[in-house]
Amino acid sequence: MPATRLSAPVGMHDVLPPDSAAWAEAVTRFARLADRYGYGLAVTPILEHAEVFRRIGEHTDVVAKEMYELTDRSGRRLALRPEGTASVVRAYAQHRPTPPWKVWYVAPNFRYERPQRGRYRQHWQLGVEAIGAADPELDVECIALAWATATEMGVPALRLLVNSMGDPEERPGYLEALRAHLRRAGAGLGEAFLARVEANPLRVLDAKDPDWQEVIERAPQLAEHLGAAARAHFEAVQAGLRDLGIPYELAPRLVRGFDYYTRTTFELQTDVLDAAQNAVGGGGRYDRLVEEMGGPATPAIGFAMGVERLVLAAGLTGRVADRPRLDAFVIDALGPDGAREAILVLAELRAAGLRADRAYGGRSLKGQWRAADRARARYGVMLAPAELARGAVVVKDLASGGQVEVSRSALVGWLQARTAPAGAAPPPPPAAGEAVDP
Ligand code: HAM
Repeated sequence: MPATRLSAPVGMHDVLPPDSAAWAEAVTRFARLADRYGYGLAVTPILEHAEVFRRIGEHTDVVAKEMYELTDRSGRRLALRPEGTASVVRAYAQHRPTPPWKVWYVAPNFRYERPQRGRYRQHWQLGVEAIGAADPELDVECIALAWATATEMGVPALRLLVNSMGDPEERPGYLEALRAHLRRAGAGLGEAFLARVEANPLRVLDAKDPDWQEVIERAPQLAEHLGAAARAHFEAVQAGLRDLGIPYELAPRLVRGFDYYTRTTFELQTDVLDAAQNAVGGGGRYDRLVEEMGGPATPAIGFAMGVERLVLAAGLTGRVADRPRLDAFVIDALGPDGAREAILVLAELRAAGLRADRAYGGRSLKGQWRAADRARARYGVMLAPAELARGAVVVKDLASGGQVEVSRSALVGWLQARTAPAGAAPPPPPAAGEAVDP
């Protein structure tokens, strides 16, 4: 009996060539941007003590309903990372690096959600955390980096929403007003609603239940309960965004899905994704979390963007697919004695920084040219006896079919002058209104 064909778990995906080229593009661009803004790479374990994630909010959907928890062979309760901030803050509290500590990450996260386009059980995030400074200028830098990431990748119809959650001291007064409203206006909405109102009314505000929306719409706003310091901070953040020419919208109901946020929260949304999954990224300040994780009182801010959503919204797969994957494909027309020459030419091209490959397995000439096309090479470099005897090779432009003879010693320079260096800008994003490939 044939073995059962296995597949990846529901809501989890393989990202393979050629589509993975768009991912490589997104991750490389973000890594370069983060580096330019002064952030170093942080790599944390994919598993943490479940307790680490509980501290981001027992009553949040992410922790209460979606976390993958397990008991290891020694009986420890562990959980697969559902989001990046908790792990980075745990690492900060554990190692106590000198603040301000600015790190970026790219990592998979796991949430047991109902899978749909743009929402998966394993998704990847690109993000940063800046720990150890309370200045509103840092909020501005963080938002500017998120904005640059999305705009550089070409996410169309981008909207930046900002809000302030105020300081924790201001929260009880607001929660009391919010609870009173929700109890009164939502009395008929059933057990689940009322239970959440009592447990954590903020988590009612980001609930997606359509029946609850009307009551949520009329709820009192946090902005009315901000203290003077939080208000001044929020105004300074907005002034900084205006200085940088970054357009934003005030979103008084943007409380985001975690308990740790204080003061600034923000989200980047795009109209090209379905409404329920329209956030390509989000973040905010979390001035108390380091302390709650057992570290010293330390203010902090960060954001994360979903790689799948970035790639989807920016239509990166289609844009990157149009680009040559290789600069040159070496075609061996020398017969059995040619292998050595092909190896040498290939090594020379690669050493010069060109992206080059060849076919293996003794393919016919026709088969090699087909392989060059399939590999999406820009040029075919054919090593043929007559030309090689003259110290030359045949170079064919695979798009136009045009062919020239290039001297063997000038080959590297010839190719370098005609191909973009690795990591060059991707083709421009689609114009407004143009369809984005799914
Ligand atoms: P988050 O809003 O939960 O924030 O996730 C960040 C981004 O990850 C979302 O905007 C979205 O693009 C993507 N994302 C989230 N869940 C999924 C999913 N199931 N499938 C696909 N993409 C998803 C956080 O995780 C915070 N840690 C962000 C942060 C960093 N706040 C401060 N520092």
